[in-house]
Amino acid sequence: MYSDVFCKVYNEFGWNYYPEAFGEQLLKWLAANALCPGTALDLACGTGVLCQILDQNGIKASGMDFSAGMIRIAASRAPHISYEVADMITYRPHRQFDLVTCTGDALNHIHSLCDVGRIFENVYAYLNSGGYFIFDILNENEVSTSEPFEMDFSDRIRVWFRMVRPEPEMVQLQIRVYEDGALQFEERITEKLHDPATVCGLLRQAGFTVVRCADTLLDDPDAHGTTWFVIAKKA
Ligand SMILES: C[S@@+](CC[C@H](N)C(=O)[O-])C[C@H]1O[C@@H](n2cnc3c(N)ncnc32)[C@H](O)[C@@H]1O
Repeated sequence: MYSDVFCKVYNEFGWNYYPEAFGEQLLKWLAANALCPGTALDLACGTGVLCQILDQNGIKASGMDFSAGMIRIAASRAPHISYEVADMITYRPHRQFDLVTCTGDALNHIHSLCDVGRIFENVYAYLNSGGYFIFDILNENEVSTSEPFEMDFSDRIRVWFRMVRPEPEMVQLQIRVYEDGALQFEERITEKLHDPATVCGLLRQAGFTVVRCADTLLDDPDAHGTTWFVIAKKA
């Protein structure tokens, strides 16, 4: 579970770039396929950036996330959007959606394939027929480890980062926050690298048709993504 300090760092450090980029690609993909979903749910919505983009483009968006800190930031960004704190492994809203999204490698936060399968079964249940489930997962070939690096977050706050692979299938982001030189906080976020073929198998098991699993969302020969984009459809 993300701590409040980490949620603040996430929001202010620039990681909102990922849902912004995803939102831009998603809107292009919807237009290219002449799709106009009326409602959308963003699973593990984080700071609510994608919900806001969908909302600004005429799609009634809702969001949910495990972290109350992320949901507080999302709700302050757009108070009219409906947000819930919940666990996507067990989440079963009493509403149906035309589109469900899950971005920013949120599914890599789920370490058990059995739990990933449960999420897919749940999404299938609350997606309207003809609806799409669109998400990304980390691409093992693009996950690099990094030497520690530091940067100033403000006059008094310095942030230290490092990316490591504690095991071949795991990737861990380590973050330390210093205030006036004193360590205030340390967080480790561990993600599991999922094999895209296995993930697509779980989608089919849940009833979906897999429309796309590629390193770009759009057919653009010049584009090269660093994650896998998966598009699944409920018939
Ligand atoms: C890297 S962030 C991505 C957030 C957002 N989708 C984005 O693109 O900026 C991963 C998010 O997944 C959420 N998360 C992790 N496990 C979850 C779970 N079981 N249920 C709901 N949210 C979860 C975290 O709280 C965090 O906000």
